Amino acid sequence: MYEDIEQILFSEEDISRATEDIALRINDDYKGLSPVIIGVLKGSFIFLADLVRKLDIDFTVDFIKASSYGGNTKSSGEVKITSNISSDIENKDVILVEDIIDTGYTLSYITEYLKGFSPHSLRICTLFDKPDRRVVPIKVDYAGILTEDLFIVGCGLDYNEKYRGMPYAGVPKTQFQKIKE
Ligand code: IMP
Ligand code: MG
Repeated sequence: MYEDIEQILFSEEDISRATEDIALRINDDYKGLSPVIIGVLKGSFIFLADLVRKLDIDFTVDFIKASSYGGNTKSSGEVKITSNISSDIENKDVILVEDIIDTGYTLSYITEYLKGFSPHSLRICTLFDKPDRRVVPIKVDYAGILTEDLFIVGCGLDYNEKYRGMPYAGVPKTQFQKIKE
């Protein structure tokens, strides 16, 4: 089904273990609290679903959507909110959930935007992080898997809307060719 994947970088087990580790930390850090868990659409939906099923605290879920790469694989630095949260986060503990942090443009924009609603706290959680690619500094509170500068797909991450349902994470052949050039 995924024969156009050049290389699998992270197995289902790697991803499940990383998700479990983050869930344990969140269960610990938010004991007795009820955070609002905000997923950044679309990429975070699978990680968020996996993560919340491992939580044993009270929480609510919301989503926010920001424009990012479109069909391209390089960030433009131009971010805008295209779909907003529907809950009131004033004085709430917010956990923002991303699929991957690359340059940091998207999350720094969303973070500043959400701070405008005066949450009590705001932490950042991501399944994948490419720290070497960062342009805008970002404090990542919960990072699942650190990865190098390769364009990866699977577990919610797409290339032209493809591969989101792939249960492991890997590099599509098209991207691998580009890297070798
Ligand atoms: P940033 O604004 O450069 O940090 O990019 C963040 C967004 O770009 C993520 O939410 C992803 O949607 C997308 N993105 C960045 N790197 C990758 C990747 O390797 N694969 C798929 N999507 C990516
Ligand atoms: Mg995303």
